[in-house]
Amino acid sequence: MEHYLINPHQKLSKINRDVYGSFSEHLGRCIYEGTFVGKDSPIPNVNGMRTDVVNALKEIGLPVLRWPGGCFADEYHWRDGIGPLEQRKKMINTHWGGVVEDNSFGTHEFFELCRQLGCEAYITGNVGSGTVREMSEWIEYMTFDGLSPMSEERRRNGQEKPWKLKYFGIGNETWGCGGNMLPEYYADEFRRYNTYCRDYAGVDHIFRVASGANADDYNWTDVLLKKAARFMDGVSLHYYTVPTGDWGHKGSALDFDREMYVDTIRAAYKMEELVTRHSAVMDRYDPKKRIALVVDEWGTWFDVEEGTNPGFLYQQNSLRDAIVAGLTLNIFNKHADRVRMATVAQTINVLQALALTDGEKMLKTPTYFVFKLYKDHMDNTLLGSYLTTPALRDGEKTPTLTESASLCPDGTVIATVVNASPDAAQEISCQIADTAVTAIEAEILTGEMHAHNTFDNNTAVATEAFTAFTATADGFTATLPPCSVVRFRIK
Ligand code: AHR
Repeated sequence: MEHYLINPHQKLSKINRDVYGSFSEHLGRCIYEGTFVGKDSPIPNVNGMRTDVVNALKEIGLPVLRWPGGCFADEYHWRDGIGPLEQRKKMINTHWGGVVEDNSFGTHEFFELCRQLGCEAYITGNVGSGTVREMSEWIEYMTFDGLSPMSEERRRNGQEKPWKLKYFGIGNETWGCGGNMLPEYYADEFRRYNTYCRDYAGVDHIFRVASGANADDYNWTDVLLKKAARFMDGVSLHYYTVPTGDWGHKGSALDFDREMYVDTIRAAYKMEELVTRHSAVMDRYDPKKRIALVVDEWGTWFDVEEGTNPGFLYQQNSLRDAIVAGLTLNIFNKHADRVRMATVAQTINVLQALALTDGEKMLKTPTYFVFKLYKDHMDNTLLGSYLTTPALRDGEKTPTLTESASLCPDGTVIATVVNASPDAAQEISCQIADTAVTAIEAEILTGEMHAHNTFDNNTAVATEAFTAFTATADGFTATLPPCSVVRFRIK
């Protein structure tokens, strides 16, 4: 029996709802077909956005959407994506499959998507191949309400009022596809570009995200913070779970054995160390934790599905991905003091997607259902909590069980527990200090580690009510099946 202690007296940071965000790049079928089908498509849509996808994302309360990249952002010239459709420039998407990008999804379409989703906008600007002027004018186009060349052009293009732009990224992966810069150089570039990203009168301060480290490059965070901390509101971190650790042979999304499964969970759990150590570096320059750590690319990255365009990064999604999502979101919750925004890569049809589409068909992935379970944590207060756990593999640190707990404004305690063991149930005994428990309700996502939805059977994996628990005076005991993610609501 493992022991789970939740302390409602230990009220920690607020869990920012924006850690449950997602990332949509002009990559493969994420935007085109996956989200945007155009007004004339036979696929049901509103102003070109697929109704099934919009409804699915609304159901999980998607709080923030990052766009247009990724690597694509540093090749994207926003003026190509505004104005009459027939006049929009066509370009080659050199990063992702060399396909023609017709720019039919641009700034206006992105904000229309955010409007339909009811989510915040997070746009990444072009530092790698753009100019300061280009970036500055994009901000003016989007957010200025007065009279100016850009705001007039926006009006001519059909948008009278400025949009609300909550987050803006100054470049993406500037250590790699965003310009192959050194941290010292990028820190200066960040300061220069950021200077001309104006907050116009009457506009909320735009939260500026500096292009941060690749995985465990702590020196990047150190140099960037040392040189530019006072100009930024957030710094990003990108980390992908590659089970083999070999980018040339990452392994299959569905064809894996037990060892590979455990390797995947171990690789995913590295996020705990990354967040802890980057936060420690940030503490040196920002002890009051004003600056957020923004994990704006995370998720599993496997070999593409056979027969698909290698540049489209299309992969299936199984219970293994759900376990990765559950343990990662628990890590983000536990680090709510620093991790205040995160976007899973990517929303539809790319990498660890929330949904997959095939023409007019759509399926929700196991990862989607984890986001649905964790939605209850949004904007809650993180509570102090601890769960004992065996190691997932002998002699290693990766835990079998992970958890996070939070307090809703109405006093309900939300606890999300992941049992990563592919074959052993885990018994837990939970105690909530000084609390007389009156009601518990729980929901679970579980299945064999390879379980997944297909277009012919898109309900094979879904959440269901969980009843294998017994309420006690101050908590509960429960048996968590192998490969499961459970959300408890405790009153
Ligand atoms: O998400 C796919 C790619 O991964 C992004 O374009 C890039 O930022 C990262 O390397």
